[in-house]
Amino acid sequence: MTLDRENPLRDPQDRRLPRIAGPCVLVIFGVTGDLSTKKLMPAVYDLANRGLLPPGFALVGFARREWEQQDFAQIVHSAVRQHARTPFREEVWKQLSEGIRFVPGELGDDESFARLKATIADLDEARGTGGNHAFYLSIPPGLFPTVVDQLRENGLAEQHEGRWSRVVIEKPFGHDLRSARELNRVVSQVFPSSSVFRIDHYLGKETVQNLLALRFANQLFEPVWNNNYVDHVQITMAEDIGIGGRAGYYDGIGAARDVIQNHLLQLLALTAMEEPTSFDARQLRAEKQKVLAATQPPQRMDLHTARGRYTGGWAGGEKVKGYLDEKGIPDDTKTETYAAIRVDIDNRRWAGVPFYLRTGKRLARRVTEIALGFKRAPHLPFTKTDTEELGYNALVLRIQPDEGVTLRFGAKVPGTQMEIREVNMDFAYGGSFTESSPEAYERLILDVLLGDPPLFPQHEEVELAWQILDPILDYWASQDERPEDYLSGTWGPESANEMLARDGFVWRRP
Ligand SMILES: NC(=O)c1ccc[n+]([C@@H]2O[C@H](COP(=O)([O-])OP(=O)(O)OC[C@H]3O[C@@H](n4cnc5c(N)ncnc54)[C@H](OP(=O)(O)O)[C@@H]3O)[C@@H](O)[C@H]2O)c1
Repeated sequence: MTLDRENPLRDPQDRRLPRIAGPCVLVIFGVTGDLSTKKLMPAVYDLANRGLLPPGFALVGFARREWEQQDFAQIVHSAVRQHARTPFREEVWKQLSEGIRFVPGELGDDESFARLKATIADLDEARGTGGNHAFYLSIPPGLFPTVVDQLRENGLAEQHEGRWSRVVIEKPFGHDLRSARELNRVVSQVFPSSSVFRIDHYLGKETVQNLLALRFANQLFEPVWNNNYVDHVQITMAEDIGIGGRAGYYDGIGAARDVIQNHLLQLLALTAMEEPTSFDARQLRAEKQKVLAATQPPQRMDLHTARGRYTGGWAGGEKVKGYLDEKGIPDDTKTETYAAIRVDIDNRRWAGVPFYLRTGKRLARRVTEIALGFKRAPHLPFTKTDTEELGYNALVLRIQPDEGVTLRFGAKVPGTQMEIREVNMDFAYGGSFTESSPEAYERLILDVLLGDPPLFPQHEEVELAWQILDPILDYWASQDERPEDYLSGTWGPESANEMLARDGFVWRRP
Protein backbone atom coordinates (compact mmCIF):
# COMPACT_ATOMS: atom_id res chain seq x y z
CA MET A 1 0.00 0.00 0.00
CA THR A 2 1.41 3.42 -0.92
CA LEU A 3 0.51 6.25 1.41
CA ASP A 4 -0.38 9.84 0.70
CA ARG A 5 2.61 12.01 1.68
CA GLU A 6 0.49 14.86 2.98
CA ASN A 7 -1.58 12.54 5.09
CA PRO A 8 0.32 9.32 5.79
CA LEU A 9 -2.74 7.74 7.39
CA ARG A 10 -4.76 8.07 4.23
CA ASP A 11 -4.65 5.34 1.59
CA PRO A 12 -4.94 7.09 -1.80
CA GLN A 13 -6.83 4.07 -3.10
CA ASP A 14 -9.55 4.47 -0.49
CA ARG A 15 -12.58 4.97 -2.72
CA ARG A 16 -14.94 5.49 0.20
CA LEU A 17 -13.77 9.07 0.58
CA PRO A 18 -15.77 11.75 -1.22
CA ARG A 19 -14.06 12.48 -4.49
CA ILE A 20 -14.12 16.20 -5.23
CA ALA A 21 -13.41 17.54 -8.71
CA GLY A 22 -10.53 19.98 -9.19
CA PRO A 23 -10.96 23.45 -10.74
CA CYS A 24 -12.30 23.33 -14.31
CA VAL A 25 -14.73 24.63 -16.94
CA LEU A 26 -17.50 22.36 -18.20
CA VAL A 27 -18.80 23.37 -21.64
CA ILE A 28 -22.13 21.88 -22.68
CA PHE A 29 -22.82 22.04 -26.43
CA GLY A 30 -26.56 21.68 -27.01
CA VAL A 31 -27.37 23.17 -23.65
CA THR A 32 -30.95 24.05 -24.67
CA GLY A 33 -31.75 20.43 -25.56
CA ASP A 34 -33.78 17.76 -23.80
CA LEU A 35 -30.86 15.86 -22.27
CA SER A 36 -29.16 18.95 -20.95
CA THR A 37 -32.37 20.35 -19.43
CA LYS A 38 -33.53 17.15 -17.79
CA LYS A 39 -30.25 15.55 -16.82
CA LEU A 40 -27.01 17.49 -17.30
CA MET A 41 -27.77 20.88 -15.76
CA PRO A 42 -29.62 19.34 -12.78
CA ALA A 43 -26.72 16.88 -12.26
CA VAL A 44 -24.22 19.76 -12.16
CA TYR A 45 -26.32 21.48 -9.49
CA ASP A 46 -26.68 18.24 -7.49
CA LEU A 47 -22.90 17.77 -7.57
CA ALA A 48 -22.45 21.35 -6.33
CA ASN A 49 -25.06 20.76 -3.64
CA ARG A 50 -23.28 17.63 -2.45
CA GLY A 51 -20.08 19.68 -2.16
CA LEU A 52 -18.33 17.75 -4.97
CA LEU A 53 -17.52 20.75 -7.18
CA PRO A 54 -14.75 23.16 -6.22
CA PRO A 55 -15.17 26.94 -5.93
CA GLY A 56 -13.12 27.21 -9.14
CA PHE A 57 -15.83 25.68 -11.31
CA ALA A 58 -17.57 27.25 -14.29
CA LEU A 59 -20.33 26.10 -16.63
CA VAL A 60 -20.60 27.35 -20.21
CA GLY A 61 -23.66 26.66 -22.34
CA PHE A 62 -23.55 26.79 -26.14
CA ALA A 63 -26.56 26.76 -28.51
CA ARG A 64 -28.16 28.81 -31.24
CA ARG A 65 -30.58 30.95 -29.18
CA GLU A 66 -29.88 34.65 -28.92
CA TRP A 67 -29.98 34.68 -25.16
CA GLU A 68 -28.47 37.23 -22.84
CA GLN A 69 -26.50 36.10 -19.85
CA GLN A 70 -29.39 36.55 -17.42
CA ASP A 71 -31.83 34.64 -19.71
CA PHE A 72 -29.51 31.66 -19.62
CA ALA A 73 -29.03 31.81 -15.85
CA GLN A 74 -32.83 31.78 -15.58
CA ILE A 75 -33.04 28.70 -17.84
CA VAL A 76 -30.49 26.82 -15.76
CA HIS A 77 -32.32 27.89 -12.61
CA SER A 78 -35.65 26.53 -13.82
CA ALA A 79 -34.06 23.25 -15.10
CA VAL A 80 -32.51 22.82 -11.66
CA ARG A 81 -35.72 23.67 -9.76
CA GLN A 82 -37.67 21.23 -11.92
CA HIS A 83 -35.30 18.28 -12.26
CA ALA A 84 -32.60 18.33 -9.55
CA ARG A 85 -32.77 15.53 -7.02
CA THR A 86 -31.33 17.38 -4.05
CA PRO A 87 -33.15 20.23 -2.27
CA PHE A 88 -32.70 23.74 -3.64
CA ARG A 89 -30.34 25.84 -1.56
CA GLU A 90 -29.98 29.52 -2.38
CA GLU A 91 -26.33 29.75 -1.27
CA VAL A 92 -25.27 26.82 -3.50
CA TRP A 93 -27.13 28.30 -6.46
CA LYS A 94 -25.57 31.72 -5.89
CA GLN A 95 -22.05 30.29 -5.88
CA LEU A 96 -22.76 28.17 -8.98
CA SER A 97 -24.55 30.91 -10.92
CA GLU A 98 -21.59 33.27 -10.60
CA GLY A 99 -19.63 30.89 -12.84
CA ILE A 100 -22.34 30.35 -15.49
CA ARG A 101 -21.94 31.78 -19.02
CA PHE A 102 -23.81 31.41 -22.32
CA VAL A 103 -22.28 31.53 -25.77
CA PRO A 104 -24.81 31.81 -28.61
CA GLY A 105 -23.68 30.35 -31.88
CA GLU A 106 -23.71 27.79 -34.69
CA LEU A 107 -21.54 24.72 -34.23
CA GLY A 108 -20.09 25.12 -37.70
CA ASP A 109 -19.34 28.82 -37.30
CA ASP A 110 -15.75 29.99 -36.69
CA GLU A 111 -16.75 33.27 -35.08
CA SER A 112 -18.95 31.51 -32.52
CA PHE A 113 -16.00 29.33 -31.55
CA ALA A 114 -13.73 32.33 -31.27
CA ARG A 115 -16.27 33.78 -28.79
CA LEU A 116 -16.35 30.49 -26.93
CA LYS A 117 -12.57 30.45 -26.71
CA ALA A 118 -12.52 34.01 -25.34
CA THR A 119 -15.22 33.17 -22.77
CA ILE A 120 -13.25 30.15 -21.56
CA ALA A 121 -10.07 32.24 -21.30
CA ASP A 122 -11.95 34.85 -19.23
CA LEU A 123 -13.27 32.17 -16.91
CA ASP A 124 -9.81 30.61 -16.50
CA GLU A 125 -8.69 34.01 -15.33
CA ALA A 126 -11.70 35.09 -13.29
CA ARG A 127 -12.63 31.77 -11.64
CA GLY A 128 -9.20 30.18 -11.37
CA THR A 129 -10.29 27.11 -13.35
CA GLY A 130 -6.69 26.15 -13.97
CA GLY A 131 -6.96 25.80 -17.76
CA ASN A 132 -8.85 22.49 -17.34
CA HIS A 133 -11.72 22.07 -19.81
CA ALA A 134 -14.35 19.38 -20.43
CA PHE A 135 -16.46 19.60 -23.60
CA TYR A 136 -19.78 17.76 -23.42
CA LEU A 137 -21.27 17.04 -26.86
CA SER A 138 -25.01 16.90 -26.14
CA ILE A 139 -25.90 17.62 -29.77
CA PRO A 140 -27.24 15.73 -32.79
CA PRO A 141 -24.68 12.97 -33.49
CA GLY A 142 -24.12 14.18 -37.07
CA LEU A 143 -22.45 17.27 -35.58
CA PHE A 144 -19.90 15.44 -33.37
CA PRO A 145 -17.11 15.69 -36.02
CA THR A 146 -17.83 19.40 -36.62
CA VAL A 147 -17.34 20.24 -32.96
CA VAL A 148 -14.25 18.07 -32.55
CA ASP A 149 -12.73 19.86 -35.57
CA GLN A 150 -13.62 23.27 -34.17
CA LEU A 151 -12.02 22.40 -30.85
CA ARG A 152 -8.83 21.41 -32.68
CA GLU A 153 -8.82 24.52 -34.88
CA ASN A 154 -9.21 26.74 -31.84
CA GLY A 155 -6.48 25.04 -29.84
CA LEU A 156 -9.03 23.92 -27.24
CA ALA A 157 -8.12 20.24 -27.55
CA GLU A 158 -4.41 20.72 -26.88
CA GLN A 159 -2.98 18.75 -24.00
CA HIS A 160 -0.55 20.70 -21.84
CA GLU A 161 1.47 19.60 -18.86
CA GLY A 162 -0.47 20.18 -15.63
CA ARG A 163 -3.87 20.86 -17.22
CA TRP A 164 -6.33 18.83 -19.20
CA SER A 165 -8.83 18.98 -22.06
CA ARG A 166 -11.44 16.20 -22.33
CA VAL A 167 -14.31 15.47 -24.67
CA VAL A 168 -17.54 13.74 -23.65
CA ILE A 169 -19.51 12.04 -26.41
CA GLU A 170 -23.14 11.04 -26.06
CA LYS A 171 -24.60 8.00 -27.75
CA PRO A 172 -25.10 6.95 -30.47
CA PHE A 173 -21.47 6.30 -31.40
CA GLY A 174 -22.15 5.87 -35.08
CA HIS A 175 -24.97 4.27 -37.00
CA ASP A 176 -23.12 1.05 -37.83
CA LEU A 177 -19.58 -0.32 -37.64
CA ARG A 178 -18.32 1.74 -40.56
CA SER A 179 -19.60 5.07 -39.25
CA ALA A 180 -18.45 4.25 -35.69
CA ARG A 181 -14.93 3.61 -37.02
CA GLU A 182 -15.03 6.86 -38.93
CA LEU A 183 -16.16 8.80 -35.85
CA ASN A 184 -13.42 7.16 -33.78
CA ARG A 185 -10.89 8.07 -36.45
CA VAL A 186 -11.94 11.73 -36.39
CA VAL A 187 -11.98 11.94 -32.59
CA SER A 188 -8.68 10.10 -32.10
CA GLN A 189 -6.89 12.50 -34.45
CA VAL A 190 -7.74 15.32 -32.07
CA PHE A 191 -7.95 13.80 -28.58
CA PRO A 192 -5.79 11.02 -27.08
CA SER A 193 -7.94 8.04 -26.06
CA SER A 194 -7.46 8.82 -22.34
CA SER A 195 -9.23 12.16 -22.91
CA VAL A 196 -12.30 10.71 -24.67
CA PHE A 197 -15.26 9.84 -22.45
CA ARG A 198 -18.09 8.00 -24.22
CA ILE A 199 -21.28 8.10 -22.19
CA ASP A 200 -23.33 4.98 -21.66
CA HIS A 201 -25.45 6.25 -18.81
CA TYR A 202 -26.38 2.72 -17.78
CA LEU A 203 -22.84 2.23 -16.55
CA GLY A 204 -23.35 5.18 -14.18
CA LYS A 205 -26.24 3.42 -12.47
CA GLU A 206 -25.59 2.17 -8.98
CA THR A 207 -27.20 -1.23 -9.55
CA VAL A 208 -25.08 -1.87 -12.62
CA GLN A 209 -21.99 -1.29 -10.51
CA ASN A 210 -23.55 -3.51 -7.86
CA LEU A 211 -23.46 -6.32 -10.40
CA LEU A 212 -19.67 -6.26 -10.05
CA ALA A 213 -19.94 -6.23 -6.26
CA LEU A 214 -22.41 -9.09 -6.28
CA ARG A 215 -20.32 -11.24 -8.56
CA PHE A 216 -16.84 -10.55 -7.30
CA ALA A 217 -17.19 -9.59 -3.62
CA ASN A 218 -19.03 -12.80 -2.72
CA GLN A 219 -18.17 -16.46 -2.79
CA LEU A 220 -21.78 -17.51 -3.16
CA PHE A 221 -22.63 -16.61 -6.74
CA GLU A 222 -19.54 -17.03 -8.89
CA PRO A 223 -19.35 -20.86 -8.53
CA VAL A 224 -22.78 -21.18 -10.19
CA TRP A 225 -22.23 -18.34 -12.70
CA ASN A 226 -21.60 -20.61 -15.70
CA ASN A 227 -23.07 -23.20 -18.03
CA ASN A 228 -22.97 -25.95 -15.40
CA TYR A 229 -25.86 -24.26 -13.63
CA VAL A 230 -27.26 -21.45 -15.77
CA ASP A 231 -29.36 -22.50 -18.74
CA HIS A 232 -30.26 -19.11 -20.15
CA VAL A 233 -29.99 -15.37 -19.45
CA GLN A 234 -32.57 -12.67 -20.19
CA ILE A 235 -31.58 -9.02 -20.29
CA THR A 236 -34.51 -6.64 -20.58
CA MET A 237 -34.88 -2.93 -20.91
CA ALA A 238 -38.58 -2.19 -21.28
CA GLU A 239 -40.09 1.28 -21.49
CA ASP A 240 -43.75 2.08 -21.05
CA ILE A 241 -43.49 5.40 -22.88
CA GLY A 242 -43.58 5.97 -26.65
CA ILE A 243 -41.12 8.10 -28.60
CA GLY A 244 -42.55 11.35 -27.22
CA GLY A 245 -41.59 14.29 -29.40
CA ARG A 246 -38.36 12.67 -30.57
CA ALA A 247 -39.44 11.36 -34.00
CA GLY A 248 -36.55 13.14 -35.70
CA TYR A 249 -34.03 11.32 -33.55
CA TYR A 250 -35.73 7.93 -33.31
CA ASP A 251 -37.03 7.16 -36.78
CA GLY A 252 -34.30 5.49 -38.82
CA ILE A 253 -32.49 4.50 -35.61
CA GLY A 254 -34.92 2.16 -33.86
CA ALA A 255 -34.75 0.00 -30.76
CA ALA A 256 -31.74 -2.14 -31.65
CA ARG A 257 -29.39 0.76 -32.41
CA ASP A 258 -30.78 2.93 -29.63
CA VAL A 259 -30.55 0.38 -26.81
CA ILE A 260 -29.12 -3.04 -27.71
CA GLN A 261 -25.91 -1.74 -29.29
CA ASN A 262 -24.93 0.17 -26.18
CA HIS A 263 -26.84 -0.45 -22.93
CA LEU A 264 -27.81 -4.10 -23.38
CA LEU A 265 -24.49 -5.28 -24.79
CA GLN A 266 -22.69 -3.44 -21.99
CA LEU A 267 -24.92 -5.21 -19.46
CA LEU A 268 -24.19 -8.50 -21.20
CA ALA A 269 -20.45 -7.81 -21.02
CA LEU A 270 -20.57 -7.10 -17.26
CA THR A 271 -22.75 -10.16 -16.65
CA ALA A 272 -20.64 -12.56 -18.66
CA MET A 273 -17.04 -11.30 -18.35
CA GLU A 274 -14.32 -12.96 -16.32
CA GLU A 275 -13.12 -11.37 -13.10
CA PRO A 276 -10.74 -8.48 -13.82
CA THR A 277 -7.53 -8.46 -11.80
CA SER A 278 -8.56 -5.05 -10.49
CA PHE A 279 -11.20 -2.44 -11.21
CA ASP A 280 -8.79 -0.17 -12.93
CA ALA A 281 -10.08 0.94 -16.31
CA ARG A 282 -7.55 -1.04 -18.33
CA GLN A 283 -8.32 -4.38 -16.65
CA LEU A 284 -12.08 -3.89 -16.65
CA ARG A 285 -12.19 -2.88 -20.29
CA ALA A 286 -9.92 -5.76 -21.30
CA GLU A 287 -12.35 -8.28 -19.77
CA LYS A 288 -15.37 -6.61 -21.37
CA GLN A 289 -13.65 -6.61 -24.74
CA LYS A 290 -12.75 -10.29 -24.44
CA VAL A 291 -16.30 -11.36 -23.79
CA LEU A 292 -17.75 -9.10 -26.50
CA ALA A 293 -15.25 -10.56 -28.96
CA ALA A 294 -16.53 -14.04 -28.02
CA THR A 295 -20.18 -13.01 -28.48
CA GLN A 296 -21.59 -14.25 -31.76
CA PRO A 297 -24.35 -12.59 -33.76
CA PRO A 298 -27.45 -14.80 -34.02
CA GLN A 299 -26.79 -17.91 -36.07
CA ARG A 300 -30.26 -17.99 -37.61
CA MET A 301 -31.46 -14.46 -38.20
CA ASP A 302 -34.98 -15.67 -39.00
CA LEU A 303 -35.28 -17.67 -35.77
CA HIS A 304 -33.09 -15.72 -33.35
CA THR A 305 -34.26 -12.15 -33.91
CA ALA A 306 -37.65 -10.47 -33.61
CA ARG A 307 -38.78 -6.92 -34.12
CA GLY A 308 -42.01 -5.06 -33.70
CA ARG A 309 -43.75 -1.74 -33.73
CA TYR A 310 -46.38 -0.48 -31.30
CA THR A 311 -49.91 0.21 -32.39
CA GLY A 312 -52.42 2.42 -30.57
CA GLY A 313 -53.88 1.15 -27.32
CA TRP A 314 -53.92 1.84 -23.64
CA ALA A 315 -50.94 2.57 -21.42
CA GLY A 316 -51.20 3.49 -17.75
CA GLY A 317 -54.96 4.08 -18.10
CA GLU A 318 -54.45 6.48 -21.01
CA LYS A 319 -55.33 6.06 -24.65
CA VAL A 320 -52.10 6.27 -26.67
CA LYS A 321 -51.18 6.58 -30.36
CA GLY A 322 -49.49 3.95 -32.46
CA TYR A 323 -45.98 4.59 -33.80
CA LEU A 324 -47.25 5.40 -37.29
CA ASP A 325 -49.60 8.04 -35.86
CA GLU A 326 -46.86 9.81 -33.89
CA LYS A 327 -46.02 13.29 -35.17
CA GLY A 328 -43.24 13.31 -37.77
CA ILE A 329 -43.21 9.57 -38.58
CA PRO A 330 -43.42 8.78 -42.33
CA ASP A 331 -46.04 6.21 -43.39
CA ASP A 332 -43.51 3.97 -45.11
CA THR A 333 -41.06 3.77 -42.18
CA LYS A 334 -39.54 0.40 -41.32
CA THR A 335 -38.11 1.47 -37.97
CA GLU A 336 -38.70 -0.99 -35.13
CA THR A 337 -39.75 0.11 -31.64
CA TYR A 338 -39.13 -3.37 -30.22
CA ALA A 339 -36.15 -5.65 -30.80
CA ALA A 340 -35.21 -9.01 -29.33
CA ILE A 341 -32.16 -11.07 -30.22
CA ARG A 342 -30.48 -14.25 -29.11
CA VAL A 343 -26.70 -14.29 -28.95
CA ASP A 344 -24.30 -17.01 -27.88
CA ILE A 345 -20.94 -16.60 -26.22
CA ASP A 346 -18.23 -18.86 -27.53
CA ASN A 347 -16.15 -19.56 -24.47
CA ARG A 348 -15.82 -22.30 -21.86
CA ARG A 349 -17.97 -20.53 -19.26
CA TRP A 350 -20.96 -19.83 -21.49
CA ALA A 351 -20.98 -22.35 -24.36
CA GLY A 352 -24.54 -23.60 -24.80
CA VAL A 353 -26.19 -20.80 -22.76
CA PRO A 354 -28.34 -18.51 -24.90
CA PHE A 355 -28.41 -14.83 -23.92
CA TYR A 356 -31.70 -13.17 -24.87
CA LEU A 357 -31.70 -9.39 -25.14
CA ARG A 358 -34.92 -7.41 -25.57
CA THR A 359 -35.97 -3.80 -25.50
CA GLY A 360 -39.06 -1.90 -26.55
CA LYS A 361 -41.22 1.14 -26.18
CA ARG A 362 -44.84 1.18 -25.00
CA LEU A 363 -44.44 -2.14 -23.24
CA ALA A 364 -46.44 -3.19 -20.20
CA ARG A 365 -44.02 -1.76 -17.62
CA ARG A 366 -40.89 0.31 -17.31
CA VAL A 367 -38.28 -2.13 -16.12
CA THR A 368 -34.62 -2.98 -16.65
CA GLU A 369 -33.28 -6.25 -15.30
CA ILE A 370 -30.81 -9.05 -15.83
CA ALA A 371 -32.20 -12.51 -15.06
CA LEU A 372 -30.13 -15.67 -14.86
CA GLY A 373 -32.30 -18.75 -15.28
CA PHE A 374 -30.92 -21.91 -13.65
CA LYS A 375 -31.26 -25.50 -14.78
CA ARG A 376 -33.85 -27.68 -13.10
CA ALA A 377 -32.59 -29.96 -10.32
CA PRO A 378 -31.29 -33.15 -12.00
CA HIS A 379 -33.61 -35.27 -9.90
CA LEU A 380 -36.80 -34.38 -8.03
CA PRO A 381 -37.65 -36.85 -5.23
CA PHE A 382 -41.28 -35.67 -5.26
CA THR A 383 -44.34 -36.72 -7.15
CA LYS A 384 -45.13 -34.83 -10.32
CA THR A 385 -48.08 -33.06 -8.73
CA ASP A 386 -45.93 -31.86 -5.80
CA THR A 387 -43.82 -29.79 -8.13
CA GLU A 388 -46.41 -28.79 -10.71
CA GLU A 389 -46.15 -25.12 -9.67
CA LEU A 390 -42.36 -25.10 -9.56
CA GLY A 391 -40.63 -23.08 -12.27
CA TYR A 392 -36.91 -22.57 -12.64
CA ASN A 393 -34.63 -20.93 -10.08
CA ALA A 394 -33.69 -17.43 -11.07
CA LEU A 395 -31.39 -14.70 -9.88
CA VAL A 396 -32.68 -11.31 -11.01
CA LEU A 397 -30.72 -8.09 -10.80
CA ARG A 398 -33.21 -5.26 -10.86
CA ILE A 399 -31.54 -2.24 -12.43
CA GLN A 400 -34.59 0.04 -12.41
CA PRO A 401 -37.02 0.84 -10.86
CA ASP A 402 -37.07 -0.85 -7.38
CA GLU A 403 -33.31 -1.38 -7.56
CA GLY A 404 -32.24 -4.61 -5.90
CA VAL A 405 -31.75 -8.34 -6.29
CA THR A 406 -34.33 -11.13 -6.26
CA LEU A 407 -33.61 -14.81 -5.83
CA ARG A 408 -36.45 -17.07 -6.92
CA PHE A 409 -36.61 -20.65 -5.69
CA GLY A 410 -39.09 -23.36 -4.72
CA ALA A 411 -40.49 -23.62 -1.18
CA LYS A 412 -43.02 -25.86 0.48
CA VAL A 413 -46.52 -24.47 0.77
CA PRO A 414 -47.45 -24.59 4.51
CA GLY A 415 -49.85 -27.40 5.39
CA THR A 416 -50.01 -31.13 5.82
CA GLN A 417 -49.84 -31.76 2.08
CA MET A 418 -46.64 -31.61 -0.04
CA GLU A 419 -46.75 -28.86 -2.58
CA ILE A 420 -43.80 -26.82 -3.81
CA ARG A 421 -44.25 -23.37 -5.20
CA GLU A 422 -41.99 -20.53 -6.24
CA VAL A 423 -41.13 -17.79 -3.77
CA ASN A 424 -38.98 -14.66 -4.02
CA MET A 425 -36.27 -13.55 -1.66
CA ASP A 426 -35.68 -9.84 -2.10
CA PHE A 427 -32.93 -7.39 -1.41
CA ALA A 428 -34.10 -3.81 -2.02
CA TYR A 429 -31.57 -1.00 -2.09
CA GLY A 430 -34.01 1.40 -0.46
CA GLY A 431 -34.61 -0.98 2.46
CA SER A 432 -30.96 -1.71 3.25
CA PHE A 433 -29.25 1.64 2.78
CA THR A 434 -30.30 5.06 3.91
CA GLU A 435 -28.07 6.82 1.35
CA SER A 436 -29.86 7.58 -1.90
CA SER A 437 -28.07 6.59 -5.12
CA PRO A 438 -26.68 9.48 -7.14
CA GLU A 439 -28.22 9.93 -10.55
CA ALA A 440 -26.16 8.18 -13.27
CA TYR A 441 -25.28 11.50 -14.92
CA GLU A 442 -24.01 12.93 -11.63
CA ARG A 443 -21.63 10.04 -11.22
CA LEU A 444 -20.48 10.18 -14.84
CA ILE A 445 -19.96 13.96 -14.98
CA LEU A 446 -17.95 13.78 -11.76
CA ASP A 447 -15.85 10.94 -13.21
CA VAL A 448 -15.16 13.03 -16.33
CA LEU A 449 -14.02 15.99 -14.22
CA LEU A 450 -11.84 13.67 -12.14
CA GLY A 451 -10.49 11.88 -15.22
CA ASP A 452 -11.65 8.53 -13.84
CA PRO A 453 -12.36 6.29 -16.84
CA PRO A 454 -13.59 2.79 -15.75
CA LEU A 455 -17.27 3.52 -16.42
CA PHE A 456 -16.75 4.74 -19.99
CA PRO A 457 -16.64 2.30 -22.92
CA GLN A 458 -13.61 2.51 -25.16
CA HIS A 459 -13.81 2.58 -28.92
CA GLU A 460 -12.86 -1.14 -29.15
CA GLU A 461 -15.98 -2.08 -27.16
CA VAL A 462 -18.15 0.18 -29.30
CA GLU A 463 -16.83 -1.43 -32.49
CA LEU A 464 -17.23 -4.97 -31.12
CA ALA A 465 -20.85 -4.18 -30.26
CA TRP A 466 -21.50 -2.94 -33.81
CA GLN A 467 -19.91 -6.13 -35.15
CA ILE A 468 -22.59 -8.09 -33.28
CA LEU A 469 -25.43 -5.82 -34.38
CA ASP A 470 -24.53 -5.02 -37.99
CA PRO A 471 -25.46 -8.45 -39.46
CA ILE A 472 -28.86 -8.24 -37.72
CA LEU A 473 -29.52 -4.75 -39.09
CA ASP A 474 -28.42 -5.90 -42.55
CA TYR A 475 -30.77 -8.86 -42.34
CA TRP A 476 -33.71 -6.69 -41.30
CA ALA A 477 -32.91 -4.17 -44.04
CA SER A 478 -32.88 -6.98 -46.61
CA GLN A 479 -36.38 -8.08 -45.58
CA ASP A 480 -39.18 -6.38 -47.37
CA GLU A 481 -41.52 -6.69 -44.42
CA ARG A 482 -42.36 -4.06 -41.87
CA PRO A 483 -41.85 -4.85 -38.19
CA GLU A 484 -44.67 -6.89 -36.68
CA ASP A 485 -47.39 -4.89 -34.89
CA TYR A 486 -47.86 -5.18 -31.15
CA LEU A 487 -50.46 -3.52 -29.02
CA SER A 488 -49.27 -0.68 -26.76
CA GLY A 489 -49.21 -1.80 -23.14
CA THR A 490 -48.35 -5.44 -23.92
CA TRP A 491 -45.00 -7.28 -23.83
CA GLY A 492 -44.20 -7.02 -27.54
CA PRO A 493 -44.74 -8.98 -30.76
CA GLU A 494 -45.74 -12.62 -30.92
CA SER A 495 -42.61 -13.52 -32.90
CA ALA A 496 -40.50 -12.66 -29.84
CA ASN A 497 -42.47 -15.14 -27.73
CA GLU A 498 -42.08 -17.78 -30.45
CA MET A 499 -38.35 -17.15 -30.55
CA LEU A 500 -38.01 -18.22 -26.91
CA ALA A 501 -40.64 -20.95 -27.07
CA ARG A 502 -38.62 -22.71 -29.79
CA ASP A 503 -35.76 -22.96 -27.30
CA GLY A 504 -38.07 -24.12 -24.49
CA PHE A 505 -38.16 -20.82 -22.56
CA VAL A 506 -40.59 -18.01 -21.88
CA TRP A 507 -39.93 -14.32 -21.39
CA ARG A 508 -40.25 -13.09 -17.86
CA ARG A 509 -43.17 -10.78 -17.16
CA PRO A 510 -41.53 -8.64 -14.47
N1 LIG B 1 -32.64 13.17 -24.61
C1 LIG B 1 -32.21 12.08 -24.07
O1 LIG B 1 -32.83 11.55 -23.15
C2 LIG B 1 -30.94 11.42 -24.55
C3 LIG B 1 -30.56 10.20 -23.98
C4 LIG B 1 -29.35 9.63 -24.36
C5 LIG B 1 -28.56 10.25 -25.29
N2 LIG B 1 -28.95 11.42 -25.87
C6 LIG B 1 -28.06 12.05 -26.85
O2 LIG B 1 -27.74 13.35 -26.39
C7 LIG B 1 -27.59 14.23 -27.47
C8 LIG B 1 -28.57 15.39 -27.31
O3 LIG B 1 -29.88 14.89 -27.29
P1 LIG B 1 -31.16 15.79 -26.98
O4 LIG B 1 -32.31 14.88 -26.82
O5 LIG B 1 -30.86 16.74 -25.89
O6 LIG B 1 -31.31 16.60 -28.36
P2 LIG B 1 -32.15 17.91 -28.64
O7 LIG B 1 -33.20 18.11 -27.60
O8 LIG B 1 -32.55 17.86 -30.06
O9 LIG B 1 -31.06 19.07 -28.44
C9 LIG B 1 -30.06 19.30 -29.37
C10 LIG B 1 -29.24 20.50 -28.93
O10 LIG B 1 -28.24 20.76 -29.92
C11 LIG B 1 -28.29 22.13 -30.30
N3 LIG B 1 -27.95 22.26 -31.71
C12 LIG B 1 -28.45 21.52 -32.74
N4 LIG B 1 -27.90 21.91 -33.90
C13 LIG B 1 -27.04 22.91 -33.59
C14 LIG B 1 -26.19 23.75 -34.36
N5 LIG B 1 -26.08 23.60 -35.68
N6 LIG B 1 -25.46 24.68 -33.72
C15 LIG B 1 -25.57 24.84 -32.38
N7 LIG B 1 -26.34 24.07 -31.61
C16 LIG B 1 -27.09 23.14 -32.20
C17 LIG B 1 -29.72 22.57 -30.01
O11 LIG B 1 -29.71 23.92 -29.68
P3 LIG B 1 -30.60 25.05 -30.38
O12 LIG B 1 -31.65 24.38 -31.19
O13 LIG B 1 -31.09 25.86 -29.23
O14 LIG B 1 -29.59 25.75 -31.14
C18 LIG B 1 -30.03 21.77 -28.75
O15 LIG B 1 -29.53 22.45 -27.62
C19 LIG B 1 -27.82 13.41 -28.74
O16 LIG B 1 -26.58 12.93 -29.18
C20 LIG B 1 -28.66 12.25 -28.22
O17 LIG B 1 -28.51 11.12 -29.03
C21 LIG B 1 -30.13 12.03 -25.51
